[in-house]
Amino acid sequence: MAEISTSILTVEKENATKTFYDLEVAGTDYYHIDIMDGKFVEKNTEEIMFEYTNTIKQISNIPLDVHFMVEDIQSNIDKYIPFNPNIITFHYEACKDDEEVIKFINYIKENNIKPAISIKPKTSIEKIKKFLPLLHMVLIMTVEPGKGGQKLIPETVEKVKELKAYLKENNLDTYIEVDGGVNKETANLVKEAGADILVSGSAIISADDFKKAIEEMKA
Ligand code: DX5
Ligand code: ZN
Repeated sequence: MAEISTSILTVEKENATKTFYDLEVAGTDYYHIDIMDGKFVEKNTEEIMFEYTNTIKQISNIPLDVHFMVEDIQSNIDKYIPFNPNIITFHYEACKDDEEVIKFINYIKENNIKPAISIKPKTSIEKIKKFLPLLHMVLIMTVEPGKGGQKLIPETVEKVKELKAYLKENNLDTYIEVDGGVNKETANLVKEAGADILVSGSAIISADDFKKAIEEMKA
């Protein structure tokens, strides 16, 4: 059974605390925190996500799944270490070379956090194969990063399948997470392809019944 990581990107400020509480009650496995810097992607969510993470830490022990869509990875890791996230994901495309990728993986591990790399829809999994033995998870973007509420790009499901097959052949237990356009219709596609954790934002946040929305995607 897949786990669900609820993206809090589209949560409204007025009822944020209640929404976070309701998500825990509804059985989300993680809170997915989307940090955007206005450079790697157009939008900037730095302030609001920092505020939301503070709020979550005050009311819940559900693990944090932090997704950096930023150019300055180092300073963002440092900013989030005090929250003790379970997983930190950074983008392969934001790193200047392979040495830098390995530097961030090691730095995240030294802080007792699970490291993950994300790739955008057009980046092939070839690029990250060499890092797989060092990683807890790979986040395959199923939409272009930058905003919630987009449609899943069907070709990205093939990448999930390809990665799953490669992991199996090489006896690796790296988790696969998918992010973008996951709802009760697309959940089956990505689960069958091999995804272990599904990020879902608008499909849950806009639902009347969070528990039902989460259970429908898990089942
Ligand atoms: C996109 C973010 C996603 C996104 C998920 O850049 O990384 O986490 O907000 O939201 P939905 O499920 O609405 O596509
Ligand atoms: Zn995300």
